[in-house]
Amino acid sequence: MRYMNRRNFIRSLAVAGVALSTTPAMAWGNKGYYYMVAADPQLWWKEDDDKAWINAVSVVNELKPDFLVVCGDMLALPNDPKALDMKRAEKMSEAYFGALEKLDKKISIYHAAGNHDVCQYPTKATLEWYEERFGKPWYSFEHKNSLFIIMESNTLIQPANVKDQAREQMEWIEKLLKKSAKKNYQHRTVFLHHPPYVKKVDELDAYNNMPHELRNKLLTMFEKYKVEIVFSGHLHANMYAKYEEMELISTASACHSQSHPSGLRIVHVKGDKVFDKFYSYKYMPGKLSDFSIRKKVK
Ligand SMILES: [Fe+2]
Ligand SMILES: [Fe+2]
Repeated sequence: MRYMNRRNFIRSLAVAGVALSTTPAMAWGNKGYYYMVAADPQLWWKEDDDKAWINAVSVVNELKPDFLVVCGDMLALPNDPKALDMKRAEKMSEAYFGALEKLDKKISIYHAAGNHDVCQYPTKATLEWYEERFGKPWYSFEHKNSLFIIMESNTLIQPANVKDQAREQMEWIEKLLKKSAKKNYQHRTVFLHHPPYVKKVDELDAYNNMPHELRNKLLTMFEKYKVEIVFSGHLHANMYAKYEEMELISTASACHSQSHPSGLRIVHVKGDKVFDKFYSYKYMPGKLSDFSIRKKVK
């Protein structure tokens, strides 16, 4: 395997659901800690080029967050599994992981699958292909007394070819959140590719959101078990919404400027507070302590 070390390291994290960076409670002091969120690097979408992703990795290395989560569409596979060109898919994946070879080994990386990683209508084969490269499509990890949950939204939105996997994931998330209620986590955070909704909780079902039934089920469950933030991608734009006490945050693409310039989100966890802000590369702070706070949606 060409990217054996990094790839297997990433996979082993996900497969084992290992709490790699867990340290004893409060050992991280008063300054808190930082992590970063990227979305939709979508390699080889517009051109067969990995320069923008290489740049994103170097920016993350300079800032040195505790970890990085990529909220899906790492690659640019077609939505339709019938249109898949496996040779090209393999090359995209190699370019993606090739850039990650340079990621500082102290920075853990976690992936959520997008529609351009497992197809809009995932199949058992596309999920297996993904798992071999990126690790488990749904899993959780702990970091400094907080719970972080990675979900696979494609399977839940379009379960026609993967009904067993969709059911399995729903059972897993319910069980995980129920169990988490008995633990004294400081924060519970979810990452997935599709935002539950874009503007209004009762908006019509569309390509960019989750269908009503799933949307309501997940939001109700997340709220019940005190999930504070749901991070997503897919929109290639920054979006902020509030559902009850929970924030829904979509992050613009790490590599493709569209309605928003490309960039990365910095998240600062300080005690019981979580602050975040998206930075385009042009205005990215030189160090994490120069981070300023985004005004929250009321
Ligand atoms: Fe995308
Ligand atoms: Fe997407």
